[in-house]
Amino acid sequence: MKIAVLAGDGIGPEIVAQAVRVLDALRTDGLGIELEYGLVGGCAVDATGEPYPEATHRLTSQADAVLLGAVGGPQYDALPREQRPERGLLAIRKKLNLFANLRPAILYPELANASSLKYDVVAGLDIMIVRELTGDIYFGEPRGIEMRNGEYVGFNTMIYSETEIRRIAHVAFRAALKRQGKLCSVDKMNVLECTQLWRDVVTEVAKEYPQVSLSHMLVDNAAMQLVRNPKQFDVIVTGNMFGDILSDEASMLTGSIGMLPSASLDDNNKGLYEPIHGSAPDIAGKDAANPLATILSVAMMLRYTFNQEEAAKRIENAVKKVLAAGYRTKDIDEAGMKSVGTKVMGDTVLAML
Ligand code: NAI
Ligand code: MG
Repeated sequence: MKIAVLAGDGIGPEIVAQAVRVLDALRTDGLGIELEYGLVGGCAVDATGEPYPEATHRLTSQADAVLLGAVGGPQYDALPREQRPERGLLAIRKKLNLFANLRPAILYPELANASSLKYDVVAGLDIMIVRELTGDIYFGEPRGIEMRNGEYVGFNTMIYSETEIRRIAHVAFRAALKRQGKLCSVDKMNVLECTQLWRDVVTEVAKEYPQVSLSHMLVDNAAMQLVRNPKQFDVIVTGNMFGDILSDEASMLTGSIGMLPSASLDDNNKGLYEPIHGSAPDIAGKDAANPLATILSVAMMLRYTFNQEEAAKRIENAVKKVLAAGYRTKDIDEAGMKSVGTKVMGDTVLAML
């Protein structure tokens, strides 16, 4: 298992260090894990002038999976657009063809007070959003702002090919198979032809997965259902733009940004794994960041790229035990709990592991 480790900026190095300790522990227990380190984001700009240097691309191309911390920070805000740290992330996703973005939203019972919704609405919440990441209106041509008949018009193109829809549908059905076997495909077929094709192709792919029950929902209703009764969902699959919006909405049902991992996969299950949060410059270098989202990203890596379900569950169970035992970093802390820093949180996960 060749893993490229890109810690990035801000709290990136601190949280990735704890995730690497988890990987080291699994290696000691017999998994064939090999780690190589590279630069991405602001630290790469400082060292080479580019946010995603050629050397890093060689590293990620040769690896089976990439573990990433976060990129960015106020010291890079003045850089020209093509040198900004976030460009490094976009470059990896595009160059590695990471078209399938998986974002679980899980509410840990111990953190129920973090949600802005009533406890009984979110208790036990465990949903997975599968978002297409390299197509749709974000990439479609033609696009632009033009002068027409004496005024400016802005336009973009929503476009998906059958091939693009089919491959993301397969990812979603396979994810549903590993969970409760329920898939909801979200579109806007009543208005948009592109998403009529989406619905048709997903329906056709469903024939290959008789164990999964497929439903369809219009995106406006899906946005409403996510806050009305989120527990009706198991896996949701949708296009790039609807997925961008719905995955942010779903992740915030749990209220805890320091807890949520993500995966971005290509068609051979090569993947980039990272927490959903950013580089948190306000707490960088203070041993205050929550490393659990990054550690849970390692669990996703073992599950999706390496097919090591048992090791993935082991990590997830260790995290659950840490929460049950009352350990809390600042972002999830509450009165009466054991407040700890990044490193002690890592120690505790290792102990439970
Ligand atoms: P952010 O996610 O970095 O921080 C938002 C708030 O959440 C901050 O108060 C931060 O302290 C807190 N927070 C985030 N992660 C935490 C953790 N693990 N433990 C405890 N608290 C945590 O978002 P923000 O502040 O909007 O962006 C900061 C920088 O990160 C910007 O340069 C932005 O461009 C970049 N960014 C990078 C992303 C990535 O690398 N994937 C994603 C989002 C933002
Ligand atoms: Mg977003």
